[in-house]
Amino acid sequence: MLQVEHLHKSFADFKAVAGADLTVRQGDLVAVIGPNGAGKTTLFNLITGHLTPDRGRILFKDVDVTGLPAHEICRKGIARSFQIANIFPRLSVFRNVQVSVLSQKKLSHTLFRPAQTLVVEETNRILDSVGLSDKKLDIAGSLSHGDKRVLEIAIALGNEPELLILDEPTAGMSPDETTTTMDLVKRLATEQGLTILFCEHDMDVVFNVATSIMVMQHGQTIIQGRPQEVRQNVTVQEAYLGGA
Ligand SMILES: Nc1ncnc2c1ncn2[C@@H]1O[C@H](COP(=O)(O)OP(=O)(O)OP(=O)(O)O)[C@@H](O)[C@H]1O
Ligand SMILES: [Mg+2]
Repeated sequence: MLQVEHLHKSFADFKAVAGADLTVRQGDLVAVIGPNGAGKTTLFNLITGHLTPDRGRILFKDVDVTGLPAHEICRKGIARSFQIANIFPRLSVFRNVQVSVLSQKKLSHTLFRPAQTLVVEETNRILDSVGLSDKKLDIAGSLSHGDKRVLEIAIALGNEPELLILDEPTAGMSPDETTTTMDLVKRLATEQGLTILFCEHDMDVVFNVATSIMVMQHGQTIIQGRPQEVRQNVTVQEAYLGGA
C-alpha cells in the first residue's frame, strides 16, 4: 500500500531523515520505533505532505505522491493524528468529528436534509466505533487527555482513510488508557480493514500490537521486519532495546 524509498529531509544542515525506507502492506499494523530525535515524526510529516522531501520517493497504492500537498494526500486516503492532540477544544465531541466527515464529503451546512442526516449517522457510527458515544455532547476541551487522543483518531477516521498514521497515540496516557487505546487501534485494523502506521516508545505496546516493526536511528532505517526478527537483530538490541 505504501512504499517509502531512500527518503531524505534536512533542516538547514541537520539531516533529520537520512535514508528512510518503509513498506506498509494492506492490513499491516506497522510500528516505527527509534530514540527521541530519530526522525519518526519528520518521516510521518513527509508521508502526509506536511513536509516536502529533499530526496527519495513515496508511493501510495503504486502512485507517486512524493511532494504532494497534505490535503491532496489526505484525499487519496491517508489520514493522521499528531504527536500533540489536534482538536477543536471549544466544540463538542460530536461536532469535532462531524466537521471532519463534512469536509471529506465536501458538504456544506446549507445542504438539504438527507445529506445532513447521512453525516449525522456517519458521525455517530465513528463515535461508536471508538467508544466516545456517551461523551459526544461534551465539550472536547473538557475531555481527559486519553479521550482527547481517541477523539483525534475519530477525527482522522472522518476522512475515511485507507491508511491511518498515528504519531505516538498513547503518549502521556495512563497504563489503562494505553491498553484501551491500543485495543481500539487493533480493532480498527481487524474490524474496519484499516492499515495502520504508528510510532510508539512503549516497547510492550509495540511488540504486542505491531505486525511489522521498522527501526530508525539518526534518520535512517536500520531494519524492518516481523517483531520476532527485529527483536533478534543484534544492532537493534545494542542500539535501542538495551540488550534486551
Ligand atoms: N522543523 C524543524 N526544524 C529543525 N529541526 C527539526 C525540525 N523538526 C524536527 N527537527 C529535528 O529533527 C530531528 C528529528 O525530529 P523528529 O521530531 O522527527 O524525531 P522523533 O523521532 O519524532 O522524536 P520523538 O521520539 O522525540 O518524537 C530532531 O533532532 C529534531 O530536533
Ligand atoms: Mg516524534
